[in-house]
Amino acid sequence: MRMLVTGGAGFIGANFVHLTTRTRPDVHITVLDALTYAGNRASLDPVADHITFVHGDITDAALVDRLVAETDLVVHFAAESHNDNSLGDPWPFVHTNIIGTTTLLQAVRTHDVRYHHISTDEVYGDLELDDPARFTETTPYNPSSPYSSTKASSDLLVRAWTRSFGVRATLSNCSNNYGPYQHVEKFIPRQITNVLTGARPKLYGAGLNVRDWIHVDDHNTAVWTIIDKGTLGQTYLIGADGETDNRTVVETILELCGHDTNDYDHVTDRPGHDLRYAIDSTRLRTELGWTPTYTDFRAGLTATIDWYRTNENWWSTKKTETESAYLTAGERVGVTRIRRS
Ligand code: NAD
Ligand code: DAU
Repeated sequence: MRMLVTGGAGFIGANFVHLTTRTRPDVHITVLDALTYAGNRASLDPVADHITFVHGDITDAALVDRLVAETDLVVHFAAESHNDNSLGDPWPFVHTNIIGTTTLLQAVRTHDVRYHHISTDEVYGDLELDDPARFTETTPYNPSSPYSSTKASSDLLVRAWTRSFGVRATLSNCSNNYGPYQHVEKFIPRQITNVLTGARPKLYGAGLNVRDWIHVDDHNTAVWTIIDKGTLGQTYLIGADGETDNRTVVETILELCGHDTNDYDHVTDRPGHDLRYAIDSTRLRTELGWTPTYTDFRAGLTATIDWYRTNENWWSTKKTETESAYLTAGERVGVTRIRRS
């Protein structure tokens, strides 16, 4: 089978390529990636001999058409993925997430190629902290940020191309991923690398916001399950029952690194900061038989800390750039200290 993976030099895409080369040697992978600030060719070094890498943009219609014509399956990870960046400059998000997805859809439509669309639980907006509800496939779309709005747009485009043009597509909406090769702008690697470089972790606002953490390999086994067994036209929510508030995540990282669990700062909150995400993945589990492997968050976090400890060359340059970008964007340490009761 020939497969085109967009965004394969990013966090989840690179892990997907690694998993696929390990478990499916019959699949030939072509990665299409623009190598934006978030892409890192080095993330593909361990599999470089097994894949074809194309440096290009998913909005380049001629390039995309040529690559899609030569493949049996497209798995679309490429995106502008960071909420904070989308608040500073939404345009790259519109370009890649909306125009880029449309470009891919036109190509898979022309060549009748199977397509899997990677999306996020953020399209559903957020939940109250004390609400027992979780997102399901029928939760109405209610995105909050420019990032999640452009991802919601891309999902709707896929649904329209499926219904109007018969494109053979499936969609998945996953919760927050963690694991190796994640850019240090994101919450967990930012705090791990803060501790490893002697800086204090940074919690937005009070740190009570809840995210539903899933290990990246569990996300990617779920994607393969959907490609193998999913019903065309359907959406599947991916989650591993990992709800944890941000303060607990920071305290756990500090504890696992042997530091005082109070050694962190509260900083400027994110405007429009979504309170809580929570996934009900019953459809994926009961209809397709998927189950997560990394059910122990502390163990997954320990392995992730070890990875960042031993791969400083992969992140050290990006760390300096990222921390200066957060300062330029106006992040300031606050005075409020909220202690657990
Ligand atoms: P990432 O930012 O780490 O990687 C994105 C990749 O896409 C980079 O390699 C980048 O170079 C590439 N890219 C960006 N614009 C491009 C363009 N115009 N043309 C070609 N390549 C381009 O993102 P990630 O965290 O790996 O997320 C991957 C996908 O998973 C995204 O669609 C995201 O919305 C979705 N998702 C992410 C999470 C999460 O927790 N990170 C959770 C659910 C869904
Ligand atoms: O839910 C899925 C989404 O998860 C994906 O669609 C996005 O691509 C991915 O970036 C992620 O979005 P979040 O905004 O939830 O992730 P982020 O890592 O930016 O932040 C996680 C939480 O941690 C959020 O509540 C904000 C908070 N935070 C973040 C940073 C960077 C902090 O408290 N301090 C920080 O320094």
